[in-house]
Amino acid sequence: MSGKKIQFSGFSSAAIHGGHTKDPNSAHLTPVYASSTYMFDDAEQGMRRFSGEEKGYVYSRWGNPTINEAEEKIATLESFGIAGDDRNPLVLKAILHSSGMAALSTLMIGTLKAGDKILTHYSLYGGTQELVEKVLPPLGIEAIIVDLRNLDKAAEAIKADANIKMMYLETPANPTIQCVDLGELTRLAKTNNLIVAVDNTFATPYLQQPFLYGVDFVFHSTTKFLNGHGTAIGGALLGSDLALMNGHITKVHRLLGGNSNSFDAFLLTQGMKTLEVRMERHCHNAMEVAAFLEEHAAIAKVNYLGLSSHPDFNTAAKQMRHPGAMLSFEMKEGLEAAKQFINKLQMCIRAVSLGTCDTLLCHPATMTHHGVPKEKREQYGITDGLIRMSVGIENVQDIILDLEQALSN
Ligand SMILES: Cc1ncc(COP(=O)(O)O)c(C=O)c1O
Repeated sequence: MSGKKIQFSGFSSAAIHGGHTKDPNSAHLTPVYASSTYMFDDAEQGMRRFSGEEKGYVYSRWGNPTINEAEEKIATLESFGIAGDDRNPLVLKAILHSSGMAALSTLMIGTLKAGDKILTHYSLYGGTQELVEKVLPPLGIEAIIVDLRNLDKAAEAIKADANIKMMYLETPANPTIQCVDLGELTRLAKTNNLIVAVDNTFATPYLQQPFLYGVDFVFHSTTKFLNGHGTAIGGALLGSDLALMNGHITKVHRLLGGNSNSFDAFLLTQGMKTLEVRMERHCHNAMEVAAFLEEHAAIAKVNYLGLSSHPDFNTAAKQMRHPGAMLSFEMKEGLEAAKQFINKLQMCIRAVSLGTCDTLLCHPATMTHHGVPKEKREQYGITDGLIRMSVGIENVQDIILDLEQALSN
């Protein structure tokens, strides 16, 4: 085969073939390279590998062919169809980690120092919130939490504190499915020389591409929709400043030691190949489920970005291809009704996490937010009767049938 390398015109072609390097033994799929270290022919080669003069693997905490394939694929998807400043296709560097939280730790420690502050929204994944409220402050890094859906408030907060160095966005966010405006906030952040980092876990690059707006970093819990089958924990950190990513951020990643492993990376690579078809079905099912729940007498409120009743409907429509697969809803009768409903489910799964083929439901008040005082969680919209749902790709009539029987008395 010869000729110019073709550019994939479709997302699934890129998801299936992107990032793949032919295996030296012609295995169809890049195998699970279960090897912690790599051999050198002689001392000189070892020296060239360490100095970076010669490309090649050294030690699997630093890199591994199976991990590398997953990283290249994520980078291909987050940059798909985006032109860089020089009008050539945008090139990103992705670093795979052992978990989303490990990727987030590399991001924070790799970009901030004592005295710096992070500006963020009040609706965040619980682990992220604890990291910024409990782990970073003793290191001298504090968070300022405001409603970033209000651009004036965001601008006021930046003006009031010259130590703000990073704007950290999670959109859509856990568990009330709020959205912030990526374009407007990035513009504001960039006029104030802030770093912009975005958690794109709920949307995935198929639904939303933050690099289109000029953000610096995108972060994923790959545990969720990217893997798609609930088979491995993982996280990815992506950046557009290649010198920074290949230099300082790679160094921080290697030294903090939150590396992925080849088996989890293999599972992730296979999962990402079907991202487009899964997301299409997830989103189609979620819309039908939301419409069903909105009409149900036992339910007070449905938070789904595809419903015009959601306050962030317009923001989501502007920056997302479809409104996603995550929704939450509030039972009219509160805590007991929510527990009863959750206990009666037959096909849908009672579990935390999200983004798997099967539908997952959790009750934040008794599960993820059990340790958060009631007044505090209610401030964030997490009431006793709130249920969070990750709508799966089963046949939608079966999902609705299960919800219907669990909601009946
Ligand atoms: C939006 C979001 N970001 C980050 C994380 C953390 O990822 P992980 O559990 O892979 O460390 C999660 C986990 O649920 C999440 O939902």
